[in-house]
Amino acid sequence: MRVLASAPAKIILFGEHSVVYGKPAIAAAIDMRTYVRAEFNKNGRIRIEARDIKTPGLTVSFSEDQIYFETDYGKAAEVLSYVREAINLVMEEADRQKGVTVSITSQIPVGAGLGSSAAVAVATIGAVSKLLGLELSGEEIARLGHRVELLVQGASSGIDPTISAIGGFLHYKRGSFEHLPFMELPIVVGYTGSSGSTKELVAMVRETYEEMPDIIEPILLSMGKVVDKAREILISELDEDIRFRLLGKLMNINHGLLDALGVSTKKLSELVYAAKTAGALGAKITGAGGGGCMYALAPGKQNEVATAIKIAGGVPMITRISREGLRIEEVVK
Ligand code: MEV
Repeated sequence: MRVLASAPAKIILFGEHSVVYGKPAIAAAIDMRTYVRAEFNKNGRIRIEARDIKTPGLTVSFSEDQIYFETDYGKAAEVLSYVREAINLVMEEADRQKGVTVSITSQIPVGAGLGSSAAVAVATIGAVSKLLGLELSGEEIARLGHRVELLVQGASSGIDPTISAIGGFLHYKRGSFEHLPFMELPIVVGYTGSSGSTKELVAMVRETYEEMPDIIEPILLSMGKVVDKAREILISELDEDIRFRLLGKLMNINHGLLDALGVSTKKLSELVYAAKTAGALGAKITGAGGGGCMYALAPGKQNEVATAIKIAGGVPMITRISREGLRIEEVVK
């Protein structure tokens, strides 16, 4: 038997970092996917093969027995640990240990803050659980994905695996989520070309929080209020141009607060200002920061903003929101 599953990347629209402290966040799945094929093998071992683990312009290929890396070994090894933990958790859940070969291909740049680790974990859980005959709901897959992140990263809010498993547009708080009305947002994502470590950035914010809670707590509180306001606007009947203008303002405020937490970089700020100068209504970091990606809201100006991001040295990506989360693509008996 062979199963092919896929799971999408995500962008956090509002509320990264503060979501780790129990505040709400809003995220959307986007139309870049990681594909995982799982099949039984005869030697009884677990084998992981990964090809085309992409960062724009680079390719990393590795298998468990033989690791070869054309670019950055660290990133490839990180992917491997999410896959390994995902397989272990599913086998524990099914109470079955079998030889399984898992092959991965991905369209999602690794370490760019677009949820590549969560997508690979969710797609692996989807493929391996189906192979073992487990019928898991989207919520159960999201919960297992969150456990994988906690094992590999130490700390995680669970928002990345939830959005990757469920898809669409979600308001998320402490493991619970609500679907927001589906809409196409005219956004442009800008990749700085370098990656930040979510684990290290979350730990860095935690350290600052512990050193000066009186200062950091109000920042996190404000971030939570930005998310409440964004949710109110997204579900409102306001005209689209007013809605976008207000959302843009909230993005700029959220970016400033993230900068205050210390997770922006010179390059991220340059891309944010380049996008705004080219006519974006708002721009902010998306994901953990420290490199990775920003995104801009640019109704009617997506091409101009993409060009400005490119001139400022970033890699622009015009993406669409994906309604679908985890997808079982094929089951061959
Ligand atoms: C990473 O995509 C988002 C963070 O808020 C971490 C998390 O929620 O687990 C930085």
